[in-house]
Amino acid sequence: MNGRAWKMDDLDAIAALEEECFPDPWNRRMLADSFLSEGFHGVLIEEEGVLVGYGGMRIILDEAEIELIAVSEMYRRCGRGTEIMEDLFSIAKQCGVKRVFLEVRVSNASAQMLYLKCGFYGLYCRTRYYPDGEDAIVMAREL
Ligand SMILES: CC(C)(COP(=O)(O)OP(=O)(O)OC[C@H]1O[C@@H](n2cnc3c(N)ncnc32)[C@H](O)[C@@H]1OP(=O)(O)O)[C@@H](O)C(=O)NCCC(=O)NCCS
Repeated sequence: MNGRAWKMDDLDAIAALEEECFPDPWNRRMLADSFLSEGFHGVLIEEEGVLVGYGGMRIILDEAEIELIAVSEMYRRCGRGTEIMEDLFSIAKQCGVKRVFLEVRVSNASAQMLYLKCGFYGLYCRTRYYPDGEDAIVMAREL
């Protein structure tokens, strides 16, 4: 593992980084609901006690959905996003997952580039998927 598993105490820092990274961030309560629910796995990377990136995934039987991934702006393009993804793949494999899915905004080129580099391919488009009306691309990767 490059990072470590989430703990309840991490949720405030994760919520703060969500707010920094997304126009429609998950708040602490949404994070806590996911964190405490069955099949959820969260990993994070911290440096000198500071949270620099995190990811979250839900596993249902032999499929997983990556629900969250973000890296603090000043730490981007140094491989942390890839490391978080590798950790999620490793957990998913141990749980017997065969296929991983995610959704990404059509405008989010940097995330799409990360996902393509990590072996994902585009499946189809979900029209007006986000609250502001933007479309989502659904991507998948076999493990
Ligand atoms: C998407 C995100 C997690 C990537 O994190 P990161 O730590 O920068 O990712 P990495 O350094 O591991 O990048 C891996 C590859 O992704 C691609 N990539 C990442 N950011 C990119 C950018 N801004 N432009 C083009 N390609 C990019 C590159 O191929 C990169 O490899 P390279 O640096 O060797 O060229 C980060 O940009 C982020 O937090 N964005 C805001 C939150 C977000 O959009 N999350 C995804 C929601 S679906």
